[in-house]
Amino acid sequence: MTAEPRPQETLANLSTEDRRFEPPADLAANANLTAEAYARAEADPEAFWAEQAGRLDWAQPWDRVLDWDNPPFAKWFVGGRINAAYNCVDRHVEAGRGDKVALHFVGEPLGDTRDITYAQLKDDVSRAANALTELGVTAGDRVAIYMPMIPEAVVTMLACARIGAPHTVVFGGFSSDALASRLEDCQAKVVVTADGGYRRGAASALKPAVDEAREKTAANGHTVEKVLVVRRTGQDVAWDDAVDVWWHEAVDAASSEHACEFFDAEHPLYVMYTSGTTGKPKGILHTTGGYLTGAAYTHWAIFDLKPETDVYWCTADIGWVTGHSYIVYGPLANGVTQVLYEGTPDSPERGRWWDIIEQYKVTIFYTAPTAIRSFMKQGREIPDKRDMGSLRILGSVGEPINPEAYIWYRHVIGGDRTPVVDTWWQTETGSIMISPLPGVTAGKPGSAMTPIPGVGADVVDDEGHPVPNGSGGLLVLTRPWPSMLRTIWGDDDRFVDTYWSRFKEQGYYFAGDGAKKDADGDLWVLGRVDDVMNVSGHRLSTTEIESALVSHPKVAEAAVVGAKDEDTGQAVCAFVILREEAGDGGSDIVAELRQHVRKEIGPIATPRQIMVVPELPKTRSGKIMRRLLRDVAENREVGDVTTLADASVMNLISSGLSAGK
Ligand code: WT7
Repeated sequence: MTAEPRPQETLANLSTEDRRFEPPADLAANANLTAEAYARAEADPEAFWAEQAGRLDWAQPWDRVLDWDNPPFAKWFVGGRINAAYNCVDRHVEAGRGDKVALHFVGEPLGDTRDITYAQLKDDVSRAANALTELGVTAGDRVAIYMPMIPEAVVTMLACARIGAPHTVVFGGFSSDALASRLEDCQAKVVVTADGGYRRGAASALKPAVDEAREKTAANGHTVEKVLVVRRTGQDVAWDDAVDVWWHEAVDAASSEHACEFFDAEHPLYVMYTSGTTGKPKGILHTTGGYLTGAAYTHWAIFDLKPETDVYWCTADIGWVTGHSYIVYGPLANGVTQVLYEGTPDSPERGRWWDIIEQYKVTIFYTAPTAIRSFMKQGREIPDKRDMGSLRILGSVGEPINPEAYIWYRHVIGGDRTPVVDTWWQTETGSIMISPLPGVTAGKPGSAMTPIPGVGADVVDDEGHPVPNGSGGLLVLTRPWPSMLRTIWGDDDRFVDTYWSRFKEQGYYFAGDGAKKDADGDLWVLGRVDDVMNVSGHRLSTTEIESALVSHPKVAEAAVVGAKDEDTGQAVCAFVILREEAGDGGSDIVAELRQHVRKEIGPIATPRQIMVVPELPKTRSGKIMRRLLRDVAENREVGDVTTLADASVMNLISSGLSAGK
């Protein structure tokens, strides 16, 4: 690991970027949070967080805000009892807002829409809770969710929360292997899935991957007891009567009455798998009271949410943490009306997202820089044809937003009225940590600005000393926060080691990102400093893809790096050494290996480039020097090679590659 953040575009822009965008006057005048919140939260963070927890309905109040007696294992709102689903659904109905639309569901096929009110959502969640109970799920059991972006996915998550069964949502784009390893790691008892979903104008199957994953886990001694299947596309599915259950039979027949039980504030709410620096994904554990507090507070503060009038839309997939915090838990706890869209931005044609914004008069829109960059490429004529005057706040998440994309987003999508909030956070942090406040902050294109009220963050050097303004270093969080991960599922040691050992003395959480403080002390996040890549805002591990490549019979060794990519931020570039008996691998070797990675992990992990090389650059201790491979992948002159065991290796690689071109 190196303390030196990789140079990225933002670094260069940082010294020259002097554009500032003040909050619109009316937004500032009516802002949910004003500048005083920073000092108030800083003076007494626990009191501030207790105030935020007060946004929720508790069956029993806590007697202690934070138990940090055994760091880094935190307990928040100790002694409190709460139900997340009750807070996201029932309480709005009880307050007389049952007729309000919770979800404007928009399926990918044109015209396939459904509006679901909070009252209907309450009935649906109750039915699903009863059905899951009927299938044998009890509090504490894990339920895996492998679904398209349809209302039933949201309903299932809330039904799990309602009965205290932690869910683990696996992104529908992951392969059966990736699904199987997650089912095994958290020993999921039941899987909820669909026959398929609509993507890019076609029905894309999901159930076969569940069948395969179930076989794989069975071979390793873990039994998935039941699979609950939503009929979405109507495509043919293989059926095992002993295991498979149709949603429209089990859930529709269940009672819409369900008395909800309240759980301890620290009861596990969900496990979300994310890539780390080793081959094995980490199951990030979030618990109930603190997580929901973080999600609800940030969603309200950072998007300046006015639940009565706003129409909110976050384009993430529920398979990622953004979908958990900013589609399901935050927005629904806050009782807002939101859009839920199943498909891709370009189906049936490229203006689909803007049509949806126009049609539903979306006021707050939250998406990722990679999407913005692809729209920029397509040109402003497409969004310009739509009326998006309803928008008042735009959000960005997942990777650094380059200033050009920020400006385009604000200008073309936001009509130059809308603040852009660049929100930095992670699966582990559970909710947004660093972001402008739209009614307070004068935004700078490319900067995530400052920690939000309640959060402590800093940029430190290798020894853990805060760096002065104008310098770079490592991003840390300096004190516990309610929505922090509690551990890595089944691996407390890895939890301590990954996040808390680097700055043990200071007690800081190490985020794995490099960052810089500008002359004003504002933060610029520069990207990962470890072996984690960020491709289109998706986190991928170099080691995980290397393991996938090496599992191919023709591959002897593999090294993967994330190379800068104009469209996706970073792209996966692989260097492989073939086994001797494989010869030159055959003319289709690259296609064959790309296909292999798709199958092992999923399409998002497919390398952009695979280069067959005779050697890999290694240090004397045998560590692959990825820095040099990154130079090759980014077409740069190769840097310092003096620590290589064999300095001629880079020549060998470069000449081999140019000969192959
Ligand atoms: C990593 C976390 C948080 C939900 C989506 C990704 C990068 C995230 C930003 C941002 C610069 C960002 C970081 C972080 N990242 N948001 N606004 N500016 N970088 O969640 O998969 O857990 O990935 O995404 O590198 O560590 P994740």
